[in-house]
Amino acid sequence: MSVPEAAAATARANVNVALVKYWGKRDAALNLPAAGSISVTLDGLGVEARVRFRRGTTDRFVIDDAEASGDERRRLSQFLDLVRAECGRDEPAEVETRSTVPRAAGLASSAAAFAALALAATRAAGRRLDARALSVLARRGSGSAARSIFGGFVEWQRGERADGADSAAQPLLDAGAWDLRVVVALVSSARKAVSSRDGMTHAATSPLYPAWIEGVARDLTRARDAIARRDLEALGLTAEHSALTMHAVGLGAEPPLLYWRAATVECLHRIWALRAAGTSAYVTIDAGPQVKVLCDPAGEDRVRAALTDVPGVERVFACKLGGGAEVVP
Ligand code: DP6
Repeated sequence: MSVPEAAAATARANVNVALVKYWGKRDAALNLPAAGSISVTLDGLGVEARVRFRRGTTDRFVIDDAEASGDERRRLSQFLDLVRAECGRDEPAEVETRSTVPRAAGLASSAAAFAALALAATRAAGRRLDARALSVLARRGSGSAARSIFGGFVEWQRGERADGADSAAQPLLDAGAWDLRVVVALVSSARKAVSSRDGMTHAATSPLYPAWIEGVARDLTRARDAIARRDLEALGLTAEHSALTMHAVGLGAEPPLLYWRAATVECLHRIWALRAAGTSAYVTIDAGPQVKVLCDPAGEDRVRAALTDVPGVERVFACKLGGGAEVVP
């Protein structure tokens, strides 16, 4: 097949933090979640991906200046196979990604990477998918990437169909419509021992897993209502509950799964103390030891101060809410 001239495109997307967690799949091959989830997209923490289809024999991936190999390369290449199938193309691609998530941020950038890649690769292949179709595609790379197609508050639907066509994210509220901060306490920048993918597979063997999945529906309703009312307390309490019960599931597995370090627990207590003293701030924790705190702009400095001197916290930084995936001209 001949390669058209404009076979290159660049796009960027931001990471997101789930407030109602995705933790369990109904189909691992298609990355279909066992329940819905709700997230916020963060400003300034993103991945830019450039994709160029060209003559040649194999795909090539350069991630932050280093050539990808092994499992990482395989996963990216399989994702491009989906794009090629969707767009009716068969040439290999050259992909370069650059992350603006600080190297030591301890924040997984795969959601931003697959969202940016879905947009850049389909444009490079000459197709303009709508945001929903992009979300379905990005999901195949990494479940949480489905949400990074959109900015602000986002809900990813579980969907019912076996082929996953109805498991896409959709925006709930624009980033500009509610001024909030997410303060991140970086507890460890070391590579985590158990990826979120492996962690959620193992957690599904826990006797607590069925109760967790059953509880997600209630958390989703509460979070959706709280976002509609801009009610930080209701949203924050729901987010904290979702995160803590997600981690409880892992504790019940055999062998147990625990991502926390001592500093993680201390950060939790600091935020609870701050809250008891009148600051509206709420914790969420993903598949790692980092603590993320949702608060309003007026509380940001107090939250930073409360976390900065916790022994074991390497760094504290704050983000505003960010926008969705976009093509870079
Ligand atoms: C704890 O999206 O990384 O961050 O679909 O297997 O790629 P895969 O998993 P991934 O899992 C994210 C898990 C989480 C919670 C969340 O983002 O909702």
